[in-house]
Formats: sequence, structure tokens, C-alpha cells
Amino acid sequence: MEIKMYTFEPHGDARGQLVAVEANKDIPFEVKRVYYMYDTTPGVARGHHAHKALEQILICVHGSCKILLDNGKEKETVVLDEPNKGLYISSDMWRVMYDFSPDAVLMVMASTYYEESDYIRDYDEFLKYVESRGE
Ligand code: TYD
Repeated sequence: MEIKMYTFEPHGDARGQLVAVEANKDIPFEVKRVYYMYDTTPGVARGHHAHKALEQILICVHGSCKILLDNGKEKETVVLDEPNKGLYISSDMWRVMYDFSPDAVLMVMASTYYEESDYIRDYDEFLKYVESRGE
């Protein structure tokens, strides 16, 4: 499985760091929505779903967490622990976010508005979906 990580150039100076992410330039889509998770209860895993159309970039802007990616054939785990690293997740990818450090803030930039009908929340349905698409 190809893991698409983006490294955003920090504009560092004596005052500290600043990272800018521009839609369609630094990442491959127009951002319609940003959401973030924090104060995650220790031991909790989130996600457990795929999408039909949504593309996302995940940045752990503080602390660390792990992302399990599963395309129906292969699984890969990615550690997010740097505030200038972004993980691209396509639709058609089962994802689980877990192992959040207590101080973790996981920010997500999303290509579409929140739309429940875009979710695939059942793993067997996901497997059938990717198979039907020949992926
Ligand atoms: P949920 O899908 O359970 O999050 P996760 O993917 O981490 O398991 O979403 C949690 C709640 O937040 C749920 O009530 C739906 C709501 N929500 C929005 O209103 N907008 C959003 O963009 C997202 C991602 C979730």
C-alpha cells in the first residue's frame, strides 16, 4: 500500500514555528471542512469507517497518535507525531485512529462537508464495496 505523507515547511524563526497549508497547492483538494479531536479518552479508538468520496489530510498538531489504514487487502499503521506532517487518506480506505497521547490534538482537513450518507460503517460492507469497484 502506498502511504502518502506530506511534509509542510515550517516557517521557523526566533519566535517559533508557523505552518501554512494551502488548498490545491500543498494538498491535492479544496478544503470544505476542518475538524479536530482532543481530550481523547485513554485507550479509545475512533474511526472504524471508510468513505465513498471524502478525501482527508490528518495532522497531529500536538502529541501523537496512530492511524491504521486498511484498503481491504493490506493494512498499514502510520504514526503521526510531528505537527508539520500530514497523512493523506483517500476514500475507500478503512481507518482507525488510536493510541492517542493524552495531549494529542488530531486535526483533519476534509474535501467535503459532513455527510452521513458518505460513510461506510460496516466492515463487511466495506469489503464488498472495494471488491465491487475492483480495487
Ligand atoms: P464520529 O463519526 O463518531 O467520529 P470518528 O470518526 O472519530 O469516530 O463523529 C462524532 C460526532 O461528531 C458524531 O455525532 C458526528 C459529529 N460530526 C460532525 O458533526 N461533523 C463532522 O465533520 C464529524 C467528523 C463528526
